[in-house]
Amino acid sequence: MSTSEVNPEFDALLHYLKQNCGYDLTGYKPDSLMRRLQRRMQQLGIENYTSYLQYLQAHPQECAPLLDTILINFSGFFRDRNAWDYLANTIIPQIITSKQPYERIRVWSAGCASGQEVYTLVMLLVEILGIEQYLQRVQLFATDIDEVALKQAQQGIYNENEVADIPTQLLSKYFEQTEQGYVFCPQLRRSIIFGRHNLAVDAPMSKIDLLVCRNVLIYFKRETQASILVRFHFALTDKGFLFLGNSESLLNDRQIFIPVSLKHRIYTKGEKLGLDEHLLILPQTHNRKVVDPLTTKIHIWQAAFKTSPFAQLAVSYGGCLIVANEQAYALFGLTNSNIGALVRDLEIGQIVNSWALMRQLNRDRHPFSLKNIKWVNDNGTTYLDIHITPILDPEGKLLGANLTFIDVTQYIYLKDEIERLNSTLARVTQELHLTKEVLNSTKQELNNTQKESKNIH
Ligand SMILES: C[S@@+](CC[C@H](N)C(=O)[O-])C[C@H]1O[C@@H](n2cnc3c(N)ncnc32)[C@H](O)[C@@H]1O
Repeated sequence: MSTSEVNPEFDALLHYLKQNCGYDLTGYKPDSLMRRLQRRMQQLGIENYTSYLQYLQAHPQECAPLLDTILINFSGFFRDRNAWDYLANTIIPQIITSKQPYERIRVWSAGCASGQEVYTLVMLLVEILGIEQYLQRVQLFATDIDEVALKQAQQGIYNENEVADIPTQLLSKYFEQTEQGYVFCPQLRRSIIFGRHNLAVDAPMSKIDLLVCRNVLIYFKRETQASILVRFHFALTDKGFLFLGNSESLLNDRQIFIPVSLKHRIYTKGEKLGLDEHLLILPQTHNRKVVDPLTTKIHIWQAAFKTSPFAQLAVSYGGCLIVANEQAYALFGLTNSNIGALVRDLEIGQIVNSWALMRQLNRDRHPFSLKNIKWVNDNGTTYLDIHITPILDPEGKLLGANLTFIDVTQYIYLKDEIERLNSTLARVTQELHLTKEVLNSTKQELNNTQKESKNIH
């Protein structure tokens, strides 16, 4: 049953929330949405959806508490302990052994709420890999639609009740007890990439080895669940794993996922996606439409941009960050909330002067490169080659620039090493030369001395 068949007033309310609060709730199960809306209305003493819509119009700040009621943020450390044990003992070791020691392990906690799930993952991974390997190899993405919950997750501070399910030795190893509460180890916390991401709308991550999405799908209608599962299929590597909540089951008609452990809701990829399913993955294309060749071309271009092995981003003429691929997110510690921000206010502003770039592009209109740009941050010194390409509209007006970053740190160190070796070689050659000269003059002196002694005799 569609929501409009259920109740047009309710439908009008959803439409208003989509247009004015930026939250599209049409993919959620109407029954549970209605229950939650009614709970909020009761708190305010409002009797019907139309009156509540009027209240929302008069009080725009009402969006926040409403969403707080609708988006159920309940979470917990090691929630369903047996499933986490299975993950730690069976799945994570499989992921590690399937990879070369230098290869990254990419993990995504989708719908991470206030962070308990992410920190559970960190603790398990560090216990298995050791802290050094973890920091070198693991890329952990934590996303949620709810920015308030994400902020809490980023802080990583929990009260006595919240940490009750963490085994004592892990609690003392990974948390510091302070006046504010139990604070998760800051060094490990900083390794997590947090960002706002709407599972039903935004393009998914890619090349993920372990996708944890627990107790989120349950709130969506069947068709929205199916479209999210298609995105998850795209997000995972061929050997990747999907970990759902204990009470969730897969409802897809085709077997795009097959169970590894049904009991613990762990799945791996089954059938391949069809072309129409691929098109579902792209941002905002969850309504099936006829796709013209230009749109397909743009989508292919977007996919190439997103999956490029190099960090890439686009900057508007006015110096705002428009889009970035995952490599750029990881390299510059970007989050979704940085999209639209001025580049000069971001970490990347340390190495890129967007105003100067635009001036040069406006004048010359052709791509150029900046070589060996030195970038010093908490992780050490990195050298980057930056390739800058103008983005022009059909009339040739400059809209912005596409920036590709290539890490050349290894080459710089290699070049320094070669230069050092060359100068050592030159010094040794010089010394050899001098030694030869000394030897020659000693020989000469010896000859002279021999001659003189013969003359004396
Ligand atoms: C019940 S919590 C689950 C938390 C955690 N995964 C766990 O199992 O403990 C559900 C989370 O899903 C998030 N969520 C709801 N709709 C979402 C969407 N469209 N995209 C991303 N996250 C969403 C909510 O904000 C909430 O934080």
